Amino acid sequence: MTINYHQVIKDTGTKIRQKSENVELPLSTEDKALLTDMLTYVRDSQDEELAEKNDLRPAVGIAAIQLGVPKKMLAVVVPKDEEEDYEFALANAKIISESMQRAYLKIGEGCLSVDSEHPGYVPRAARIKVKAYDLIRDKEIVISASGYLAIVLQHEIDHFSGTLFYDRIDKENPWKEIPDALVIE
Ligand code: NI
Repeated sequence: MTINYHQVIKDTGTKIRQKSENVELPLSTEDKALLTDMLTYVRDSQDEELAEKNDLRPAVGIAAIQLGVPKKMLAVVVPKDEEEDYEFALANAKIISESMQRAYLKIGEGCLSVDSEHPGYVPRAARIKVKAYDLIRDKEIVISASGYLAIVLQHEIDHFSGTLFYDRIDKENPWKEIPDALVIE
């Protein structure tokens, strides 16, 4: 199976709000295949030619519920300047600690499951530790993430509880200053 953008479910239905369950480890053949396809989607979506050819809307992460599967699995590919990208294909990812300091993306967030515009700051923790099984490394890992990677991981883990980025935007004042927050360009 190869995933393309048309298989991604949208926030116009209620399925995207469904809570995801832990997956059994070691991963079943089926779960492994799905998680591998999710990683491939995200990786290929960042390649202009492949994205065009395979109909992939560019993304830095995806969660299994976005394909209608309520299991705690996510894939992220976050480009690093000049270095190898951060790549993770995670099962049962869980935030085990987070900083008091907040962070947000200066331009706000987007999501493959959200077509409508939701401008505003999405406040999140500036630094987190995530514990998960990682299919790429085939072991349980703890990721210490900050900056953009931390934001992306929190966005994807939010999907496990049916939370979308705009749920976190201040409805009254979407661009309200967040004290002492780290601004990510
Ligand atoms: Ni999303």
